[in-house]
Amino acid sequence: MIEESDEQLLQMLQQILPPPEQIVTPFEVKTSSPNGIDYDRLVKHFGTSLIEQNLLERFEKLTKQKAHRYLRRGIYYCHRDFEKILDSFERGEKFYLYTGRGPSSKSIHLGHLVPLQFCKYLQDVFDVPVVIQITDDEKLFFKPNLDYSDVQSMANENIKDIIAVGFNPEKTLIFKNGEWMGTLYPTVMKIQSKLQAKQMISVFGFDIDTATVGQFAFPAVQMAPSFAMCFENVFECDVDLNSVNCLIPCAIDQDPYFRVSRDLAPKLHSQKPCLLHSKFLPSLAGIGEKMSASNSESLIFLSDTPPQIKKKIGKCFSGGQVTVAEHREKGGNIETDVAYNLLSVFLEDDELLSHYKNGYIDGSILSGEMKQRAIQTIQNIVSDFQKERNKINDTTIAKFTRFKKIQL
Ligand code: TRP
Repeated sequence: MIEESDEQLLQMLQQILPPPEQIVTPFEVKTSSPNGIDYDRLVKHFGTSLIEQNLLERFEKLTKQKAHRYLRRGIYYCHRDFEKILDSFERGEKFYLYTGRGPSSKSIHLGHLVPLQFCKYLQDVFDVPVVIQITDDEKLFFKPNLDYSDVQSMANENIKDIIAVGFNPEKTLIFKNGEWMGTLYPTVMKIQSKLQAKQMISVFGFDIDTATVGQFAFPAVQMAPSFAMCFENVFECDVDLNSVNCLIPCAIDQDPYFRVSRDLAPKLHSQKPCLLHSKFLPSLAGIGEKMSASNSESLIFLSDTPPQIKKKIGKCFSGGQVTVAEHREKGGNIETDVAYNLLSVFLEDDELLSHYKNGYIDGSILSGEMKQRAIQTIQNIVSDFQKERNKINDTTIAKFTRFKKIQL
């Protein structure tokens, strides 16, 4: 055994061990475990840090704001160098936020709302610029059933969705890669000159036989905005842009891009981007999958009508018992109950949430009641969103998407 080469050992191990039950990459999120994604395992596997209570306390003390329910409830649960952002804020230094959206459906869904709402909250709390990348290129390269014009019209609709979340027009830039490549390209070039094809294969799991050139080229484009130099024509500031920090709130599956950004940062003489990572919003079908545009029955679009929302949540996976008598006796499982999961993400009132949680566990609240509360909560969120979206016109869109200078 000792004489075996590493590769032979690895092959033998792969034969003995069961196949991994959990896949989390930017392109696929899946688990065969009935308990859903093992998020602690991802922290170890990716090498991130859990968001501990003392970090949240420091955040609240410095910003004089209550932590968002996504932070209080561990929806955003791990990070890279978030202390560095708090240090910058404490010293009165400027930084910026970076997020993005891959246009893969005409309307964004509830799962997309989470990072957008959180990013808007951080913009308000820190009073900083936000850059929002629309990856029309990504979806063309990775979704073979979409063609160029599909992706463009989805991108334009998604831009309105993003604006409806309430970002500050003076401090927010929304850009489609297809239109802004001229601005991004110097940074993309610097990144691509350092990245090796074999890194793309090991980090992103690309298959050398089937991956396209577009797929290999794309990660550098998502990484570029994580370096402030990318916005040298946009950001106005009196310090060296390479010293400016970037904070990226994103779902944990996007970490591989920015792990590579962080590795490259010293070579680009830039700061390493800092990250706040979230868990996924589960699919309506169950906690083993994330809500995703590839399965329209298992998600709620922000364009859905109240009856559609009622119907979809009515059918979602329940952690309740089979009969009422059994449920009253044994109680339900809040971990796997999708309606409860939705409430834990979207119901603002902490006390009401624990009322539902405790009542479900002790059997006094039935699945139907849990679903009813989830339906009401989501219908309200979606209707408020639609009111904002209906107000958006071409002038509003231009404020966010045209070239402008932003004071850092
Ligand atoms: N790849 C992301 C998606 O599929 C879009 C994206 C681009 C992004 N840049 C980002 C997400 C930065 C988070 C942070 O939706």
